[in-house]
Formats: sequence, C-alpha cells, structure tokens
Amino acid sequence: MASPDYWHYPRSALADSVLMAFDSGLSHALTMFAPRRMGKTEFLLQDLAPRAEEHGWRVFYHSFMTDGDEAGEVFRLSLAEFAAGRLKRWLKPLTARVSAELLGVKAELGSQPASAPHSLTEVVQALASGGRCLLLLDEAQILTRLPRNEELLGGLRTGLDINKDQLKVLFTGSSREGLRRMFSEARAPFFHFGTNIELPTLDRGFCSHLAAAFTRSTGRALDESRLWEEFQATGHVPGRLRAVVEAMVLNADLSLAEAVALKLHDVHDEAQYAKILKALPILDRLVLQAVLASAPLFAEDTRARMGTTLGAATPSTTAVQSAAERLLRDEIITRRERGQYEISDPGFSHWLQALAGDTQA
Ligand SMILES: Nc1ncnc2c1ncn2[C@@H]1O[C@H](COP(=O)(O)OP(=O)(O)OP(=O)(O)O)[C@@H](O)[C@H]1O
Ligand SMILES: [Mg+2]
Repeated sequence: MASPDYWHYPRSALADSVLMAFDSGLSHALTMFAPRRMGKTEFLLQDLAPRAEEHGWRVFYHSFMTDGDEAGEVFRLSLAEFAAGRLKRWLKPLTARVSAELLGVKAELGSQPASAPHSLTEVVQALASGGRCLLLLDEAQILTRLPRNEELLGGLRTGLDINKDQLKVLFTGSSREGLRRMFSEARAPFFHFGTNIELPTLDRGFCSHLAAAFTRSTGRALDESRLWEEFQATGHVPGRLRAVVEAMVLNADLSLAEAVALKLHDVHDEAQYAKILKALPILDRLVLQAVLASAPLFAEDTRARMGTTLGAATPSTTAVQSAAERLLRDEIITRRERGQYEISDPGFSHWLQALAGDTQA
C-alpha cells in the first residue's frame, strides 16, 4: 500500500459506522450528500476504502464526473472489468470483450462470435457471484442526467436488489437536488432505496492536524487557532483551507492573512459566480438575495421589498415560486427542511455576502 498521506485528517469514526451498518446487514445502500470540496471523495478513498478492505470487502470506486454522455457506458464497462478480474468462469470471454470495448478497439475478436454486450444487471450479477463487494459511486447525481438513464438506473437497481447480501453501495454527490431526483421522487428507480447519512463538518482537530503537517513539511510554525478562525469564517470547507495552507507551503513569504486573501478570491470561481448572477432574471436575483438573508420568500413584506427594488408592483407568490423553482432546478439554491432554502455552493454564498457588503458600504 502507498504510504499514508500525512495531510489527510482521518474520519475513522464515520468510516467505522458506515462499515458497521454494512457488515451487520443493517443497511445495503447509503447516500451521502455534501457541497463541493467538503471532503466526500477524500473520505471514500482515504478512509472508507482502505478500512473496508481490511474488513474483507472488495471495493469498487467509480466517479461519474468526467465521462460526459458516455458516463453510463464507461461505468458498465469498468464494473465488468472489475468483476471479470476476479471471476473464474466468466474471466476469458468477458475480459477480452470488455478490454476491447474499453480501448475503443473495433478489431475482430478472433473466431469469437459477436454477441450482445452484457447488460448492467448481468454485470452486477457477475460481480456478486465473486463475493462481497462494496460499491462507492461518487457524483451519482450525474446518472439522472444521462441519456437513456432510466435503463441504466433500472438495471443497476435490479442488480443491486437481487444481490443485497453480497453488494453494498454508497452513493455520494454534491447536488442535493440531483440526488433528490434520484432517490426521493416516487417515479425514480431508486425511490427510497438508500438511507441518507451526513458528512459531518470537520472540527478543530482538522486545523491542528493541518498546522502539524505544515510544520512537518516546512519546519515553520503555523498558528492553529488562526486557522480554526479562518475555517469557521469560510464555511468549514476543507478544500479551501487546504489550498490556503498549500499556498503557504509553496511560498514561504506568504502570511496566513495573505494566503487567505489569495485563496478566498479564487479568480476562477469568481468569474463563474459573476457569470451565473449575470444570467439570472432580475426577480430570480432578488429571490436569491432573500435566500441569502434567510428571509421567508413568500412573506408579504419580503415580496413588497422585491417590488420596491423592481420599481413595480409587489410580485405575486406564484411569480416568486416560479423564480425559486428555476433556482432550484439549476441547483443554485437547495431546499432544506420546513420550506427553508439555502444557497447550494458555500463559495457562491460567501461571494454574494461579500458583494452585498460592498454595495451597502
Ligand atoms: N479529511 C481530510 N483531511 C485533509 N484534507 C481534506 C480532507 N477532506 C478533504 N480535504 C481537502 O479538501 C479537498 C477537497 O476534498 P474532496 O475532493 O474530497 O471534496 P468533495 O466533497 O469530493 O468535492 P467535489 O464535490 O468537488 O468532488 C481535498 O482535495 C483535500 O485537499
Ligand atoms: Mg468529489
């Protein structure tokens, strides 16, 4: 095994409780949603996968992020490869065909007669016959956007249903709305399939850990309590704090405040945020503003304020509702419990807050 990454702050308790749920047969499917850069992938790869292997699970990790419209097919083929690598009887024909498909090779496969590719259900079935396996499916919300996704999701669901004892699955994603579409809509193939678990925000220990790793790698000191303040002030996003510390490792002249300023204003993100905002109809922008201020969207005085800003009549509840629906659909905002909304991306939320501060000043 590769030497452990000393920058990684372990989430052992969470990994243990997930494994306990699977090992004991309590759960066969879990879902975990958290915004971008909160540490989902890092948890899967650095905490859960190694721990699961120690517990005797074969672990298959797959992210749907990068394969565009082909994501479903790439998944089927990767899973088949994985299954084939460990199966005795299916091994030859399956590996030959799958590898060829994976490489995009259209060459004749010798004297082998052409046959239909294995369906996803068959692949899952083959995987299960090889013994216990844990599937870590990252960015799973992308599955709902793929062409012919119903076939794919249906096949996956069937395969998993038939093999509940052998196959356990953890779906993760950064889009609650996408995941809601996948697991909470009555028509969705994964309706009520998985139990949702939280990815807890990291505690102060994460900051002490980063400070110690910084000293280990540079021989310089780093004020842990200042790191903790920054972490809290910027929405507990580990990816962001790691970027700040990384900047300081690479540039010894950079103070913590300078590194924070540098990374808080991530030029790439900011250009993206400005573009999103600019593309919104004016009413949607006002609804976004109300979400930012945690104002009740449909309340009379909230809508009256929107009307004043618009220089027009108070927008109707229906108009505000439609604007909110558009923002939800585009995953700019997310629905929380009891009719509360929040801005999906904490980075965007901070950027908007800074913008609101600037305009008021
Ligand atoms: N437990 C941790 N210890 C140390 N660093 C961490 C930890 N979790 C996350 N990070 C840092 O945060 C970065 C982002 O984490 P990760 O890629 O896992 O987030 P994510 O939730 O999967 O985001 P996305 O939705 O964008 O894929 C990591 O590259 C790493 O630098
Ligand atoms: Mg990720």
